[in-house]
Amino acid sequence: MAKKIAVLISGGGTNLQSLIDRQKERYFNGSIELVVSNNAGSYGLERARQNQIESVYLDRKLFADNTEYDTALIRLFQKHDIDLIVLAGYLRYITPTLLAAYPDRVINIHPSLLPAFGGKNFYGLKVHQAVYQRGTRVSGATVHFVDSGQDTGPIILQKAIPLDQDWQPEEIQRQVLKVEHELLPEAVRLFCEDLLVVEQGRVRILAEH
Ligand code: GRF
Repeated sequence: MAKKIAVLISGGGTNLQSLIDRQKERYFNGSIELVVSNNAGSYGLERARQNQIESVYLDRKLFADNTEYDTALIRLFQKHDIDLIVLAGYLRYITPTLLAAYPDRVINIHPSLLPAFGGKNFYGLKVHQAVYQRGTRVSGATVHFVDSGQDTGPIILQKAIPLDQDWQPEEIQRQVLKVEHELLPEAVRLFCEDLLVVEQGRVRILAEH
């Protein structure tokens, strides 16, 4: 049975686009049923519309607090019988309410090799500026299950790339984004095949048959 997927975005949605493209190739046994953004202007909503995927702008100002916001998200997910929630450039905090409703079923893509360059204030270009400033010789991307921390949940996949010492933060971002566009669909594929098991805070990827 194909897994039903909801994707949460806040920005341009290039990670969403890579999922849409890979779904069309039947790369994973899942169907993106819903795209939600907290930002009316995110181009990712347009990407959803272009692909006949239900797209919802959920305005934070309409809700008393983060928990009310996530309760509205949960209602949307239940309406669409969602199995997997993918955070793809989603910049809002996920409350314990949402995590309790979807344990080990929320995954996030982060543009660094966590735990390095993760957590508070490490998002978007800021991540790559910090990587550049530190002069690390590699960077990359991480897909992880979301837990109550920020970028701290059990790691599913990582991929490292060597950094050219002359790459500026914008170039590092471009190169890491290419990795993200491979890594996220692969993590979704593993999830859809029920090959991901979380044991004592670590992810075991079961052998494929
Ligand atoms: C990506 O770098 C993602 O890792 C980070 O925010 C960026 C979102 O890009 N969380 P996009 O909206 O998917 O293009």
